[in-house]
Amino acid sequence: MNGSEPVGIFDSGVGGLTIAREIRARLPHEALLYLADTDWVPYGGRSLELIRERSLAVGQFLERQGAKVLVVACNTASGAGLEALREALDIPVVGVEPAIKPAAAATRNGRIGVLATEAMLRAERFNRLVDRYALRTHVVAQPCPGLVELIEAGETDGPSVRQQLQALLEPLQRAQVDTVVLGCTHYPLLHRPLSELLGPEVTLLDSRAAVALQTERVLRETGRLAPDGGGSFRIVATGEPSRVSSTVALLWGESLEVGLAAV
Ligand code: DGL
Repeated sequence: MNGSEPVGIFDSGVGGLTIAREIRARLPHEALLYLADTDWVPYGGRSLELIRERSLAVGQFLERQGAKVLVVACNTASGAGLEALREALDIPVVGVEPAIKPAAAATRNGRIGVLATEAMLRAERFNRLVDRYALRTHVVAQPCPGLVELIEAGETDGPSVRQQLQALLEPLQRAQVDTVVLGCTHYPLLHRPLSELLGPEVTLLDSRAAVALQTERVLRETGRLAPDGGGSFRIVATGEPSRVSSTVALLWGESLEVGLAAV
């Protein structure tokens, strides 16, 4: 291993691009290999066992592709399978978790909202996080079925998106939360409508920067940082690449060839 191996990153779909972008900004010399498990997206309505199985299959695939570290750019997959991945793989594994701890520290009125997938809110890891960091905080956890599908279709704003969001945000507004955690890596792609609907007095938090920082720390501590001068981004999908390529181009800001990964 000389550091030029790729950083493997995966999500159920395009949501993890929010994390990949942050990693690219922080670590511009790294070769990033991103896998979108689009054959199985969305993970959020599936059983934790199935999500764990998919996470293992995808993690092992990326390790076989030569990844020097695995970044699980999906809260739901981290919630369901982080321990199993760490046990099964020989490379370090970086996960993502909803920003409950920073939210509990940031709230001024002791009320926070969490937007996440149904499966994430079922995961024991999520409950442990709340017990550990937000015991004295009023937490309104809101599952958001349907949002990932919209984003995968490239719909990140517009009247129908706002209508769906408004219905999901209603319980949070009723509870008068002043801080909202975006507990799914897809949701930062809805930042604009979310912040406009919630208003300027509500703070939105996500974990993108924390994951990029942790990835850098792990690479540094294990002597795996890439030598200067490289830097690339490659994306593969488990479903038909043409189904996701226009959304990828829209969200990444340039058109990229999406490869097919048989996982
Ligand atoms: N982006 C994923 C997350 O962070 C989940 C999306 C899905 O439901 O597939 O939770």
